[in-house]
Amino acid sequence: MQMIKLFPVSEVPADSRKVVEVGGKKVIVIHTQGQFFVVENSCPHMNLPLEKGKISDDCTIICPFHRSEFDLKTGHPQAWTPWPPVIGKALGSLAKEKSLRVYTSEIRDGELWVSSEPKK
Ligand code: FES
Repeated sequence: MQMIKLFPVSEVPADSRKVVEVGGKKVIVIHTQGQFFVVENSCPHMNLPLEKGKISDDCTIICPFHRSEFDLKTGHPQAWTPWPPVIGKALGSLAKEKSLRVYTSEIRDGELWVSSEPKK
């Protein structure tokens, strides 16, 4: 797995996020709870952008569309299309429950590095 240098960590202060391209995919770099996470900027439900999703204190991101919730570290869904009531469940059945793609990241000498491909 190849690691790519993105930028100095100071470019994404605590409790902020930034969308960048990695390996031809848009990803969101998220700095929360003292950690950096890199996830694909595409909800696995309907491939809509996740960049405006709410970040929880438990390090999850909640899709702004039908509120599927994903663990930022593993990408595993914690909730699948719970919104809006009743209709959300019907919308959820349109696509099989899937994990959000997440990338490996690390800090080296104040720079953020990310894997060129999502974790398998
Ligand atoms: S597009 Fe994200 S939950 Fe539907």
